[in-house]
Amino acid sequence: MCGIIGYVGKEKKSLHVLMSGLKNLEYRGYDSAGIALKDKENITIIKAQGKIAKLENKLKNVKNTHLGIGHTRWATHGEATEINAHPHEMENITIVHNGIIENYEKIKRQLIKEGYKFKSETDTEVACALFNKIYKEEQDKLKTLKKVNTILRGSYAFGILFKDDDRLYAMRKDSPLIIGLGKDENYIASDVPAILEFTNKYILLDKNEYAVLDKENICIYNDNLEKIDKKINTYEGSKEVAMKNGYDHFMIKEINEETTVFDNLLNQFDMSSIEALTKSMPKLKKYEKIDIVGCGSAYHAGLVGKSIIEEYVNIPVNVKIASEYRYNKNFNDKKTLTILISQSGETADTLAALRKTKEKGFDTLAIINTVGSSIAREADNVLYIKAGPEISVATTKAYSAQILMLILIALVMGYSSNNISKTKSESILKDIKMLSESIKRTLNKENECKKIAKKLYKANDIFYIGRSIDYSLCMEGSLKLKEISYIHSESYAAGELKHGTISLIEKNTPVVAIVTDETIEEKTISNIKEVKARGANVTLITTDKILKKYKTSDFYDQCITINSKEITTSIHIATILQLTAYHVANFKGLDIDKPRNLAKSVTVE
Ligand code: AGP
Repeated sequence: MCGIIGYVGKEKKSLHVLMSGLKNLEYRGYDSAGIALKDKENITIIKAQGKIAKLENKLKNVKNTHLGIGHTRWATHGEATEINAHPHEMENITIVHNGIIENYEKIKRQLIKEGYKFKSETDTEVACALFNKIYKEEQDKLKTLKKVNTILRGSYAFGILFKDDDRLYAMRKDSPLIIGLGKDENYIASDVPAILEFTNKYILLDKNEYAVLDKENICIYNDNLEKIDKKINTYEGSKEVAMKNGYDHFMIKEINEETTVFDNLLNQFDMSSIEALTKSMPKLKKYEKIDIVGCGSAYHAGLVGKSIIEEYVNIPVNVKIASEYRYNKNFNDKKTLTILISQSGETADTLAALRKTKEKGFDTLAIINTVGSSIAREADNVLYIKAGPEISVATTKAYSAQILMLILIALVMGYSSNNISKTKSESILKDIKMLSESIKRTLNKENECKKIAKKLYKANDIFYIGRSIDYSLCMEGSLKLKEISYIHSESYAAGELKHGTISLIEKNTPVVAIVTDETIEEKTISNIKEVKARGANVTLITTDKILKKYKTSDFYDQCITINSKEITTSIHIATILQLTAYHVANFKGLDIDKPRNLAKSVTVE
């Protein structure tokens, strides 16, 4: 997501309003920023790569104006460079954009045929040229907005300046946009924090609505270009709460964003058939082995991916901690694909592992969230998880999206190597497309997770046990708990407990047991009974389908079940683990988004 701000007013203070707004929107995206200031026919655009402060340094002698728009970017199309930063201009039009234009390539090809030239790699510049073309044809601003809206596909909110007009225009389809009401001035913004310094009165622009603002008037039109009245809201909360969209912490906000994150990830591919998906992903030619490399949660996502890829592609997958990989003898070769997983794309050890692999001339594929990051730029191929900015240091939506990307890789490689039939592939694809809907059911179990957390938050030691893919999920569940609640925790292979660690189990020792793999469920349940017999307090996390098989509940004390298609079960379990860890830390009243000793991106070795 990105942040949009716009100002029109009696006073020449667009510079102040835009920069204040952008600073309060930085959490929506922070890889580049820019403003456009309009003074009569003259529009001055200033942009900078990097955080808002970089832009600020370029504004020393810039003249203030009555009208302007600003933007802070989270790159989706095109790297985080100054050229790709917004605002974008084309002749009569200057725009800022939040969202994704899905059909921009087709539109760009047509516009190039008509003589348009583009400087950036962005979908936004294409939209700008389209506004310009349509405005030349229609010579009517509102009709131009409406006609562009009928051509574009995707999600978007625009702030628009016309060279020949001193009003501020805005429109939205699916990305948020509000209209702020001031005294002799008005504003547009992606959300409330951007304008709270100036007003707490705002209007929510709805889908396919258009707004025309000057310093005194706000006119809003529906999709038939009829003027409509809108409710004026008053925001009573603080700016901090507004930035979290009303959630108490970024972490819980980001867990709940998983519904849209999974769709954003899937929408970058053609999901209409397994052939279409295969064509729309990088060539995952036949490899005889895969190495997956990452740190922390990225490493844990790789472990989950290992189970799924080995199941569907029938080739060995080694998962390695980047800081180990870079110093070990790794027996990879031309037939090995090395996959590097990183939310930030800047983790020093993972970047070093990438460079070591490339020095040997072997193929690399990066699974990244931050567009244009170092690992993304240097890998032979990159797949973006499109999770948007993740502010909370503890990763949630990005980790879950990394697993989803690995599931897609497993499906495409499995189908391409004839390890999965077309029928089975299509059925799995259908199940994957249901994830954004089905994860809502799991998110609705937050209160159950909270009840579990209430039983756990006073513990000194908590064990997570499981087998195979469930053991990998235990590792992430344990890390999530440790890093935000500071409770000591261990994840353990359930079958390994009796080889030593079970000596630590005593009365009321909390044990979280994950059971989703039906091929080994009985073995894991035997291990659960072993710890139960020694007094453990067991929290069972399993599926509805498995729990139905057991009439007695003598092997657990409390239980949470999920209901999902097999291929995405691990993602549902991850959400339960994330919600539970969050509430444990919340009961302890800790600084959940910024845990002690941690950083969001570890760019040192
Ligand atoms: C996530 O909760 C952790 N804060 C941490 O383990 C993180 O996953 C790790 O540092 C890797 O970061 P990256 O994904 O940005 O490379």
